[in-house]
Amino acid sequence: MEMKLLFEPRAVAVIGASASPEKIGFRIVENILRSGYRGCVFPINPRGGEILKLPAYADLADIEEEIDVAVIAIPAERVLSAVAACGAKGVKHLVIITSGFSEVGDLETERRIVQSAREHGMRILGPNIFGIYSAASSLDATFGPGGIAPGPVAIITQSGALGIAMIGKTATESVGLSALVSVGNKADIDEADLLEYLADDERTRAILMYIEGVKNGDRLARTLSEVTRRKPVVVIKSGRSKRGSMAAASHTGSLAGADEVFDSVMRQCGVLRAESVQEAFTWVRYLATSPRPPGEEAVIVTNGGGIGVMATDACEKHGVRLYDDQPVLAEAFSDVMPDFGSSKNPVDLTGQAKAEDYGKALTAVLKEDRMHAALALYCETALFDTERFAGLLREIYASYRDRKPIVFSLFGGERIESAIRDLRGEGIPVFGDVYEAVSSLGALYRAARREQEGPDAAVALNLPIDEIHRVLAGARAAGRTFLLAPEAAQVAAHLGLGMPRSVLARSLDEAVRAAADIGYPVVMKVVSKDIVHKSDAGGVALDLESEAEVIDAYQAIRRSCLAHVPDAVIDGIEVVEMVCPGVETIVGARQDPSFGPVVMFGLGGVYVEVMKDVAFRAAPVGRATARAMVSDLRSYPILLGVRGEKRKDIDAVADVVVKLSHLIDRCREIADIEVNPLVVYAHGEGTRAVDLRILIKQPKGVS
Ligand code: ACO
Repeated sequence: MEMKLLFEPRAVAVIGASASPEKIGFRIVENILRSGYRGCVFPINPRGGEILKLPAYADLADIEEEIDVAVIAIPAERVLSAVAACGAKGVKHLVIITSGFSEVGDLETERRIVQSAREHGMRILGPNIFGIYSAASSLDATFGPGGIAPGPVAIITQSGALGIAMIGKTATESVGLSALVSVGNKADIDEADLLEYLADDERTRAILMYIEGVKNGDRLARTLSEVTRRKPVVVIKSGRSKRGSMAAASHTGSLAGADEVFDSVMRQCGVLRAESVQEAFTWVRYLATSPRPPGEEAVIVTNGGGIGVMATDACEKHGVRLYDDQPVLAEAFSDVMPDFGSSKNPVDLTGQAKAEDYGKALTAVLKEDRMHAALALYCETALFDTERFAGLLREIYASYRDRKPIVFSLFGGERIESAIRDLRGEGIPVFGDVYEAVSSLGALYRAARREQEGPDAAVALNLPIDEIHRVLAGARAAGRTFLLAPEAAQVAAHLGLGMPRSVLARSLDEAVRAAADIGYPVVMKVVSKDIVHKSDAGGVALDLESEAEVIDAYQAIRRSCLAHVPDAVIDGIEVVEMVCPGVETIVGARQDPSFGPVVMFGLGGVYVEVMKDVAFRAAPVGRATARAMVSDLRSYPILLGVRGEKRKDIDAVADVVVKLSHLIDRCREIADIEVNPLVVYAHGEGTRAVDLRILIKQPKGVS
């Protein structure tokens, strides 16, 4: 496998190794030696001599052994020639620590470095990184603080400083690492490459990624989709507020803020997105060590009603289902339940419960096959012996840790705080905050459900792509980056989208005849390549009931458009069947700058950008995913039918979503396509695509 030698090199050279302890090149050699790396280490320094008791080589070419990884920590201007030397030596992977390339605007040198590496078949991690740690070879080739404990969590980070800080954090949180990789500028190796190795790495049981920006998002999404079926991936992404670069071009564009798309695609790929570094740590730590629940039914055991209710609320939020077979619960806790307690879930033993009662109740949950996970909550009380209780937790956890998921949440004063610290230090999932405990169990449930999902069904759809390409080529040949209404109508016809009947009228007489043919009421719209925002230019008239209204509208549209854009060439006025009212939705698809083709569905109409009730997915999607997009909306109940209304034709909506998603995937020259509104009627009565807007990419070289 391509990345294996990066994580498991047989020999490592450090170019820029130094005998000066304050230098990064010294730290790296020191960490490699201290971490107990099992392969050979070769310091490279023009002065030769000794570095940390190892002979230093003045030239890489002087080494006889094969080198799998060269760590480069020399000033930026010398890196390119060092890369060439590595190529000549047959090095497999470069770990370029040095900063000062694309992150400060020097794209050219970075490009040349990558090109030189490719010519020699080398892969590059970095540049601008703090290095790599791999438990598989006991290799700490970073300039971090050292002392990384091996364990089941892999971390991939784009932020160097945060990554180094995470080394310290893993120590205080008792999280052992299988790998820690800094990806920096991602000039060559990116998250997807690393994930492919980590997915197969038996040491790695959960993966944490810190991402700032996504490159090659469609490949990342494909890889994550695979990996999350085998092990959980938690992501923290900064930059939630950034907007897509094509924001203003369409509704889809303005709703497709970078973060909205990232969030949706991550969920589609089964990735767990954490809000903070702390949450991410809490989750991966638990995910890496907990067994998967044998079923969906969790039970809360508490000695305090208040935290029981808080936990119940949190369970709802985090998708943890609570077992509620009352006779079974009453039977299970009959021995320990005081008269005024409650065996309803949350099982409340009340503040009177002693440590032993609590232990018995918790054991009852863990023994009972119909109960699949335990949330053990405890509030400090005067009657309770905290030390005895901590001992009981240890015993119970040791007996059941491999059989069922358990999370503990303890709340109280100094004695409780110190018990939490001790128990956590021993790797027991004890939390001070009830929400942390429940969110961890929720993350485990989501990961477990994902691991049980089968592979995505292949999504294939036959579309007359050649015919559509021809329509797009016509618009392009005319120097346009958007399709005129008749061209869009042709694409709609090829896609089988039900659009209202329409005729392009080039004179007043033609407009009158067209309206009579189509039948009243009708809508009229200007057709002009010079007028993109028709309504703003007064180029649209709705609900025209008679010949007289058509005549007035025809003249008013021409007048108003020419007043708005005096030089506009008006090709004619489109007379269109007026569509019956229904639920207005919007379906859009676009080439996302990070993830490539994406598709959007949302509640449409004039409030679309206020409500922002939309769902995104990476395209193409199949019917099941399209239906899931519909049910993701807050306004889904409107489509299900409220106040005695009939259910709407959700299958017909899904059909349009699927078609647009396939089109945007197969016709990459389409920048943005949007049906707005897509009017949805009652179940079985289909949809009407009232307006279809298509933007095409500018040919290269045109600005
Ligand atoms: N081959 C081998 N050794 C060389 C070569 C070469 N071609 N050229 C120079 N050297 C030696 C130097 O002689 C020196 O050794 P010495 O101490 O014996 O003299 C050693 O390599 C280092 O070279 P210096 O010129 O002293 O460079 P310095 O160590 O000051 O800086 C560094 C090099 C660390 C790579 C710097 O350029 C840099 O990029 N720093 C930033 C690193 C960073 O922060 N990366 C991102 C991490 S993530 C985060 O944000 C934390």
